Parts: sequence; structure tokens; C-alpha cells
Amino acid sequence: MPDWRQALHLEPPRGWLNDPNGLCCFGGLYHVFFQYCPADARGAGPKLWGHYQSPDLLHWTFTGAPLAPDTPWDKGGVYSGCAVAEGGVMRLYYTGNVKHPGAHDYIHTGREANTLLVETADGVHVSPKKLLMTNADYPADCSLHVRDPKVWREDGLWKMVLGARSLADAGRVLLYHSEDGLAWRLARVLEPAPAFGYMWECPDCFALGGRTWLSLSPQGLPHGETENQNVYQSGYFALDGGIETGTPGPFAEWDKGFDFYAPQTFETADGRRMLIGWMGMPDADYRNPTADLGWQHCLTLPREVTPGPHGLCQRPARELDALADGTPVTVDGSLGGIPLPCRLKATAQGAFALTLAGGLELSRATPEAPVCLRFTDEALGGGRTVRRAPVDAGPLALTMVVDRSSLEIYLNGGAAVLSTRFYPGDGPVPLAVAGLTATVQPLRPMTFTGL
Ligand code: FRU
Repeated sequence: MPDWRQALHLEPPRGWLNDPNGLCCFGGLYHVFFQYCPADARGAGPKLWGHYQSPDLLHWTFTGAPLAPDTPWDKGGVYSGCAVAEGGVMRLYYTGNVKHPGAHDYIHTGREANTLLVETADGVHVSPKKLLMTNADYPADCSLHVRDPKVWREDGLWKMVLGARSLADAGRVLLYHSEDGLAWRLARVLEPAPAFGYMWECPDCFALGGRTWLSLSPQGLPHGETENQNVYQSGYFALDGGIETGTPGPFAEWDKGFDFYAPQTFETADGRRMLIGWMGMPDADYRNPTADLGWQHCLTLPREVTPGPHGLCQRPARELDALADGTPVTVDGSLGGIPLPCRLKATAQGAFALTLAGGLELSRATPEAPVCLRFTDEALGGGRTVRRAPVDAGPLALTMVVDRSSLEIYLNGGAAVLSTRFYPGDGPVPLAVAGLTATVQPLRPMTFTGL
């Protein structure tokens, strides 16, 4: 049986994982909560929040599922949300999903989306749940799809963004204000005209490099050759003028690969903006064979986000550098088996091709062409086909983090990123390169305890 259990990525101990939730740095620990369905590796069943913590982003402990659907307000699922660390506690804001039985479309009838709050000092023991808002508190021209609160402090106020679908099927963000983080009033409905997709999930708003950025996961965008290639997207707008009054600039996708959705960001103790996404895609027609083994999906590596020449750049958190283990190997031609996990670096002056595991090809046809990620082996990609990432013309800097069943590809300092799962068979994973020389650095696995 191939070893598809990841060495550098957070996975559920068993069952299903989707969005990262409640990301924060608190009391000397990183906290990563996630959408978790322990009972079913295909995600059929109510969602809980699972919880990992780590002192350094390298040694992780799974502590269980602190939030389960056990009140009338969240009995259909403890949906996505965030953490705010304040005065010795983490406040966890999330959406309580409720679905009523009956002949409903669950857009206009049959659903509740409640905004709830709990407090916790450790991510393990949580206070009783407090109901903050129900659908009756959201604007009357919203459908019942309103969810995924992201809360932060700014200018002496508490601010919250919620993702929503209007009655006219337009994606929108609701901005709320509060003096105490408990009583909230609507401050703005941000909805571009014409509509940009029918639903916006998982909004996030943060300041970086002197600008305000609004990240979200829109559904219903038109698909193109190099844009919006997946079922749903995740990306960001610069919001010059800020969240209160700013107008969104052009939309940029966070990741052009097959498996990336619903990211969330947080700030580290030393002031870095860090992003973690779900390395998965809802409603995709490709497969993850680990589901037959009892678990499915993982999160991305933590990625540092910085302002770049055309938007935001991402790079694997610098903490990962400490995992370098042994002497790098230079590959100019082919290598029968690369160590997993590893980090590969290369610079391509023009056309190149890199083939991993015999059936995953990363290539560029000319120095002007987009970079192309293509599976030529159906089983290796679980049905994944091709994705393209436009990059600046000229030389290409390539960094790849290869785990046992995933690949994160960072192009030109993370100006473009492609993430994918891949499922190699038993035995060594070969690498062949043409048009570049690769340096392969073996990495030590992270440690995961409490599983
Ligand atoms: C995004 C999402 C969120 C929701 C959660 C439920 O993947 O649909 O909008 O809160 O997943 O698991």
C-alpha cells in the first residue's frame, strides 16, 4: 500500500477535513481549527471543529474536536469561523448551520445561518455557546446563505465580515461593527456591480503593505483557459479606501492548482501575515483515494503573504527551513527516486519540462507561455487533468514542496502558486527534468501527536 499519509500537512486523524478555521497565535501556541467530519471520509455528516496546536508550526498536537453541533442553533453543523485572541481568551466566532426537513431549496427556505460565539483559553475547553445573530438580523435582501464570520479589532471597534448570497444571486460581503464583540450593527453591504459570482464564502480582510485586502472564495465565476479553472475560486481584491468605503480592484486568484479553497489568514507574534488554505475543492469531479483508507483532505502549508509587484506573493513559512535534512541533490536529467518530503528549487531560462512520478508534468513551452501543470497518468492525478498559471515573460524561479501525496508549486517568489494532490504508487518517485537543473533538498517530516 503506498504511503499517502502526509509528512508536512495537517490531515484529519480519520474522516474528512475541509476549511481551516480559527487560525491564531495565542499564548505562545499556534492554533489551527478545521472543519471536521470524523464519522465519514467523504464528508457526509454534520461538521465539527477539530483542533491542532503547535509551538513552532513544525510539531503539531491534535487535541480533539472542541466544537460539535449540539445546540438548536448549530445542530446541522458547526460551520466555518475565526478566532480573536483578547485578554487571555480566544473568542471563536462561527456559523451555526441548521437545515429543516421538508421540501426546501435551502437557499430561500429551510436553512438557518446563525452567528455564534464561544470562548476558550486553550482550544480544548469551551464556554457555553452564545447566539449573536440569526438570519433575521441580516439584510432582508440576503438569501439564507450567510456565513463564515471573520472578526478583527480596528480603530477601537470590533469588525466582522460575513460572506453571503443575495436574493438576486449576487455574492456579497456584509460588514458589521461592534463596541464589545457581542452586539453587532450592519455597516456596509459590499457587492460589486455587475455581480461577481452568486455566493461569496469565507471572507477575510487584512491590512498589508499599506493597503487593505479582501480575500474571499466566490462561487459562480465564468471559467477560462488560465482563469477560474476550478469549480470554485479563492482570491483577493485590493480594497483601496479600506473596508468601510473602498472599491475592489481586480480579482487575483490565490492558487491556480487543482486543490485550494477557503483560505484564512492570521498574524504571527512577529507581525507576519500567514495564510492556510484547504487543499481540496468542493464538488470537484476528481478523486482522493485516501477516502477508501478512512480519511480525506489536508490543509496547505502555512504560507507567508507579502506585497509583490502585481499583488500578493506567498512563500512557505520560513519555519519550514529548519526541516532541511542532509545534503541537497542536484538533478540534471533524471533521478530514479526523490526523497519525500523534499523541497525542490530551480530556475528555468525558457522552455522546460519537469516530470514527477512518471505522470505529473510541469512545463512551459516558451519564455512567454503560461506554466502548465498536467497529469498524463489518470490514476496518479485521481482524474485531475490540466491547470495553467500565467507568469511574467522571461526566466522562471521555481520552488516546489513535495509531500507524500501533494505538491505546492511557488513560481517567481510566490507571485503564482499551484497546489495539487497526487497519488504515487508503491516504490520510489522518479524525477526527470529538461531545460533546468533542479536542487532537491530532503526534508524531515513534521511531528503529529494526539492522533
Ligand atoms: C467552504 C464552506 C463554508 C462553510 C463550510 C462548511 O468550504 O462551504 O462556507 O462554512 O465550508 O463545511
